[in-house]
Amino acid sequence: MSRDQLLKGSVNMEVHLRPMTHDDLKMATTWETMAGWTNDYCMREMLFELYGDSHEIAETEDGEAIGFTSPNVISQDLAFLETIFIREDFRGKQIGKYLMNKMMDTYSDRNFWLNADTGKEGFYQKLGFKVGAKTAKCTGNVSEDVIERVKDDGAFKTDGSTVTTEPAGEKLFKDLKKFEMTTLNISRQSFFEKWFESELHKPICALARDKDGVVIGYALCRRLIYETTSDVTQSYVINPLVADDGRIANRLFRNIYISLPIGSKITFKSPNYHGGVERLVGKFNLEVESQGTAMFSKDLNPIDFSKIYSFFPY
Ligand SMILES: CC(C)(COP(=O)(O)OP(=O)(O)OC[C@H]1O[C@@H](n2cnc3c(N)ncnc32)[C@H](O)[C@@H]1OP(=O)(O)O)[C@@H](O)C(=O)NCCC(=O)NCCS
Repeated sequence: MSRDQLLKGSVNMEVHLRPMTHDDLKMATTWETMAGWTNDYCMREMLFELYGDSHEIAETEDGEAIGFTSPNVISQDLAFLETIFIREDFRGKQIGKYLMNKMMDTYSDRNFWLNADTGKEGFYQKLGFKVGAKTAKCTGNVSEDVIERVKDDGAFKTDGSTVTTEPAGEKLFKDLKKFEMTTLNISRQSFFEKWFESELHKPICALARDKDGVVIGYALCRRLIYETTSDVTQSYVINPLVADDGRIANRLFRNIYISLPIGSKITFKSPNYHGGVERLVGKFNLEVESQGTAMFSKDLNPIDFSKIYSFFPY
């Protein structure tokens, strides 16, 4: 196992980095929950299976885990830093900065994208990150009133486009891949395949197609499951939601919303809190629970955020 090492006179401690293992996932999820994020164990495990080669644990010289980073290298050019976490009793000792610099050295050819919580922007700015779009975490509860109001919303265009719920299958993955490549220039087919395969975690999928059957938007929704079926919650995360325009986004959201049990909690995180997202929030009686900032290590907005209402799936 390769062990990197930070020696810092003023801090007077060593920090070692080692690859994350499956045994670390529970601890990582607990830490993320403490930080107020919506990751659950199932998603953490799935991300680990897909992108775990780049996830690392920081330890003291005695082998005590004190933090982790989980960059998801999603394309040749782009990596999404999903999490950097340092245990509270080890913050302010330059450890976060060290982990960030190591990671950015390793993937120096990629643009890093992350969502900074409010108040954390300065940490990333010191590392050369630039401020991009405003982000928002929106939450609400599925209500009978809203369902009553939106359930009869008809076809959103007169040209034969439809919004449906489709079962997983090769055609769906192929079509999603094509849509993501065209609209965002990234492809997460392996991610989708893994996700739909998962028994506990299978998403609800709403899909919009134009009259020729071409995908023009999709939304996925998952239930938060902490580890086993006994940890299943009534909390749902609608993520991602990507659509060519606001009306399509609205119908996709509606299709998911009306399929959920009354009273369930729903959450989605928008990487660009633009006009279309505000309209969704209003229409479905949601609230903006917290805001943050999308930040980039190189070019700003490497993908077209105007079509993204909610992204990534966690
Ligand atoms: C954010 C976090 C990763 C920072 O790690 P850390 O080890 O405490 O930070 P460091 O000691 O390496 O700080 C490096 C520099 O950033 C600065 N900094 C740290 N947090 C900052 C903040 N919130 N705002 C502005 N500057 C900050 C430090 O003052 C230091 O500046 P210097 O290089 O001029 O001395 C850590 O506090 C953490 O894990 N918090 C909980 C989880 C979290 O919020 N993760 C990030 C979500 S966006």
